[in-house]
Amino acid sequence: MGKNQNREVLKSRLGFLLLAAGCAVGLGNVWRFPFITGQYGGASFVLIYLIFLLILGLPVMIMELSVGRASKQNIGKSFETLQPEGTKWHIYGHIGIAGNYLLMMFYTTVTGWILSYFFSTMFGQLSGKNATETGQFFDAMLADPISMSFWMIVSVLTGFAVTGIGLQKGVEKVSKTMMVTLIFLLSVLVIKAISLEGALEGLKFFILPDWSRFMETGPASVIFAAMGQAFFTLSVGMGGMAIFGSYINKNRALPGEALRIMGIDVSVALMSGLIVFPICFAFAVSPEAGPGLLFVTLPNIFNQMAGGHFWGTLFFLFMSFAALTTVIAAFENIVSYWIDTWGWSRRRASWFNAAALILLSMPTVLGFNLWSEFQPLGPGSSILELKDMILSTTVLPLGALVFLFFTTTRYGWGWKSFTEEANTGEGMKLANWTRFYITWILPLIILIIFVRGYWGLLFG
Ligand code: ALA
Repeated sequence: MGKNQNREVLKSRLGFLLLAAGCAVGLGNVWRFPFITGQYGGASFVLIYLIFLLILGLPVMIMELSVGRASKQNIGKSFETLQPEGTKWHIYGHIGIAGNYLLMMFYTTVTGWILSYFFSTMFGQLSGKNATETGQFFDAMLADPISMSFWMIVSVLTGFAVTGIGLQKGVEKVSKTMMVTLIFLLSVLVIKAISLEGALEGLKFFILPDWSRFMETGPASVIFAAMGQAFFTLSVGMGGMAIFGSYINKNRALPGEALRIMGIDVSVALMSGLIVFPICFAFAVSPEAGPGLLFVTLPNIFNQMAGGHFWGTLFFLFMSFAALTTVIAAFENIVSYWIDTWGWSRRRASWFNAAALILLSMPTVLGFNLWSEFQPLGPGSSILELKDMILSTTVLPLGALVFLFFTTTRYGWGWKSFTEEANTGEGMKLANWTRFYITWILPLIILIIFVRGYWGLLFG
């Protein structure tokens, strides 16, 4: 299987870094990270999560970028291009794409919430509401399947409209501008949040590990959740990053690029925590609220700020862009899979998948209202959490294992080809001493956490 030499490349290195970071930065940073941190006990979870990013997420991101850059194909075809003849690694390409579907089956619903909040904030529907009233506003949104479906469909159609045009032409430029503005806005909000009266308790919750709380929550479940979040936030394990590798040239070595992308991603997640937790404690709202945390607590800050209406609108606008860049990236993966693997036209693939994803996302929408009695992961849980759990703690870790075995064993692409690709170009390289760790220790860590996590979930 030949390499795709005519692959389009991104315009600039900065464009690549911010586009990849824009696709990593999304709901995982501004929504999922704060609510999971709240549920799993605060700073001790954050510490474990940061360690996992470095020891698990970073190597897998380097592998994904390398596989993408060497094959110049989307994940559906990249294994087929690089694998030794007669082997079956390419089967994972299809599973990776299924992971992209699974992600979008709940991501588009939450993106819809954000789009809806953007308009509600802009038209003043949230102005003047206290913590209880914003909670009621959120509950009313969840209870209404029509409006939730509408906003989910808007996010699906927006994503596919952009992929219909082509990823590089619009997204590189838009992501660059949006990321810079998002970081600026987050900085302003952090300063505002930590200067609120009572914010200190929130900072302590977020920054100072409380190991007794860690033991209470259950070390195995905290570690399991931190691993899932590390994979989710970097979009690795399902070819989410490989696609960007396929769009770049060989001027820069990939370990340094991966570290930069991760650095931006972590900064945005930490800044989100520095906004959400001080506000929670300042307004005496529990940080254990789960998926509703951002939508119930955050609007309060805007009602307290001078010009809060303006800032709130801007915040949800840029949140929408952060979420949409991830949606577009996953959709581009999905569309290019149908084009490359099955020979469909881009137009046909976009229409078909828009319809498919609207249907596949409906259970998530209905799980909050008409089907709310179905609580698959225990009292209070929803279909959204089930899909998230299957993706973050099953598909992504297992996908990461496939990348690991593919790049380290001679039955796959092999260590030599992998490191040659990763280290081609200027900048930080993957040292050879990492070979033992990546080949033997890393898969063991993932396997042990995976098995222990599932054990706890099923029998804990
Ligand atoms: N990496 C994406 C996010 O964090 C999925 O939102």
